[in-house]
Amino acid sequence: MLVIGSDHGGYELKTEILQLLEERAVKCTDLGTDGSDSVDYPDFAAKVAGAVSSGEAELGILICGTGIGMSISANKFPGVRAALVHDEFTAQMAREHNNANILVMGGRVLTPEQGKKFVEIWLDSTFEGGRHRNRLDKITAIEQRVISR
Ligand code: RB5
Repeated sequence: MLVIGSDHGGYELKTEILQLLEERAVKCTDLGTDGSDSVDYPDFAAKVAGAVSSGEAELGILICGTGIGMSISANKFPGVRAALVHDEFTAQMAREHNNANILVMGGRVLTPEQGKKFVEIWLDSTFEGGRHRNRLDKITAIEQRVISR
């Protein structure tokens, strides 16, 4: 199950991505925002990253104006690996090397075609494991050290 959220800066791109997910029959829950009125991106990052962190959702997509605020906020949640992507290469690496469980994009940075393409690449790519698994384990170890401080 996938959860998706945006602020007002990402709302338009989110509607395009929702259409793509429907076409691909990806089971998805939209956690808002529901229009172009100004809202605060941490509120929506918390909904999506909270669902991924708790295991309620397997994957998430977050979109704000630049993608920066959403990625900063989402990465505060244990177990979340939120990757801000800008091109096809970073979309592919986000999954193959980082096993990103949240894809983050900037609605004021990308065209709808770019955003949809990056989502498709991320969904269709596979984590390579191996040395990359070791690196993710090190991220988890950092997280555990910080939490137990
Ligand atoms: C909202 O104006 C904007 O700051 C937000 O969408 C995002 O770009 C923050 O990182």
